[in-house]
Amino acid sequence: MSERYPRVASLRSAEAFRERLAELELELPCDDEPLSAPDSPLAEPLDLGGGLVAPNRFVIQPMEGWDGTVDGLPTELTLRRWRNFGRSGAGWIWGGEAMAVREDGRANPNQLILDPENAAGIEPLCDALREAAVAEGRELPVLGLQLTHSGRWSRPDGEQSPRTAYRHPVLDRRVGVTDDAAVLGDDELDGLIEDFAASARVASALGVAFVDVKHCHGYLLHEFLSARGRPGRYGGETLEERSALTRAILAAVREAAPGLRVGVRLSVFDHVPHAAGPDGRGAPEPHGLPYRHGFGLDPDDPSQIDLSETAEFVRDLLELGVGWVNVTASSPYYAPHLQRPALFPPTDGYPPPEDPLVGVARLLGAARDLKRAVPEATVVSSGWSYLQEFVPHVAQACVREGWFDAVGLGRMVLSYPELPADVLAGRPFARKKVCRTFSDCTSAPRNGLVSGCYPLDPFYRDLPERVLLEEAKRGDS
Ligand SMILES: Cc1cc2nc3c(=O)[nH]c(=O)nc-3n(C[C@H](O)[C@H](O)[C@H](O)COP(=O)(O)O)c2cc1C
Repeated sequence: MSERYPRVASLRSAEAFRERLAELELELPCDDEPLSAPDSPLAEPLDLGGGLVAPNRFVIQPMEGWDGTVDGLPTELTLRRWRNFGRSGAGWIWGGEAMAVREDGRANPNQLILDPENAAGIEPLCDALREAAVAEGRELPVLGLQLTHSGRWSRPDGEQSPRTAYRHPVLDRRVGVTDDAAVLGDDELDGLIEDFAASARVASALGVAFVDVKHCHGYLLHEFLSARGRPGRYGGETLEERSALTRAILAAVREAAPGLRVGVRLSVFDHVPHAAGPDGRGAPEPHGLPYRHGFGLDPDDPSQIDLSETAEFVRDLLELGVGWVNVTASSPYYAPHLQRPALFPPTDGYPPPEDPLVGVARLLGAARDLKRAVPEATVVSSGWSYLQEFVPHVAQACVREGWFDAVGLGRMVLSYPELPADVLAGRPFARKKVCRTFSDCTSAPRNGLVSGCYPLDPFYRDLPERVLLEEAKRGDS
């Protein structure tokens, strides 16, 4: 099925790549040749205000490895990944990976937990990243931590234990919700606000520059942005009502850690949950209209992005002192093609319903549109890895043209951590390390295995888990 789309690796020049974009009627700028520092727009330092400067425009996006201890502390695998982030040469480390603010908000039993008890155990992770950067002679990146509650997608013991913002007509079925018991009450949310504040206090004590209060991928704070039917203090028809929880958390974080900067990773648009349709490819699940359960879409035609509320939310964030937005979309659980464009689907996904280049252009276009709508915001873009060898060509053109401020790399860094350093130094692109979006990094954790690049990173290729992953992919387990 995936073979219906030409492989990016078969496009041998920037010109061939541009021709493919034109065939697909996609608007993405692409330079002929990658530039190195100091000429590359990607080498330009990014002023983040308050004396904070990211030394270049590369950002490492947060990526969990499902490899913490049951107590939520890093293991050798976690340390290895963070060292790789440190030696990447990227100027900004956006969170490292999602860390739960409390036990019941873990997405899996191996997710890190950032609470006062774990402070001393998380510290070596930040140290390892910084030491790896120094050892490679890189400038120290701006480092922050990503704070989350996984909400509907919580699995603290491995079993689904959803805690939701509201009853969802499609997603409740997916997570086994049959009554209102999973919906978090207003009083419970008051406690959660305190947990975010406590995590922020720990982050501040660890000396990181910022925390990301995560609002994306279907997790709890993202879900609240579409809590239209929810009664009480934290939901309602207006955006003001649906973002009351955000405001309460930001105020509590500010009070707990006054010097700590705050960013928000935001799913800026959404779609109806997808599943394999009649032809096997991803298609929206049956749903009524208007579809009132998404943020950043047109309820009368949920296939259409509508960033007007998103821009309003980002303006509100700016007023609350949050000036950095990391643009992502939807959720890897129910619309992976929108969030991590890939040629090969994860085991719980579906073959792509579109050329994944369309997905990349949609994500980057949304980041551009948001930057245009709210130019004062510092905007980080996501969804780059499927561009493969053309990441530098497109990234430098987008930054030069002011589409957004920074280029956030995800899966690519698992296989090719040195990409930012190589590009900035003008070294040849290591084609053998280029992520080809096999989705093993997503399929492994979906099957209870640690995440990493099994196809390309020799370390993971040689792990016994690789055999188990192959079995799971064949459906043997
Ligand atoms: C294995 C894996 C783990 C991820 N974990 C997180 C996470 O903890 N927090 C988050 O905001 N995004 C997470 N993401 C999403 C990535 O940050 C990124 O948005 C996505 O992979 C698309 O970017 P890419 O095309 O460069 O891979 C994860 C992605 C992968 C593949």
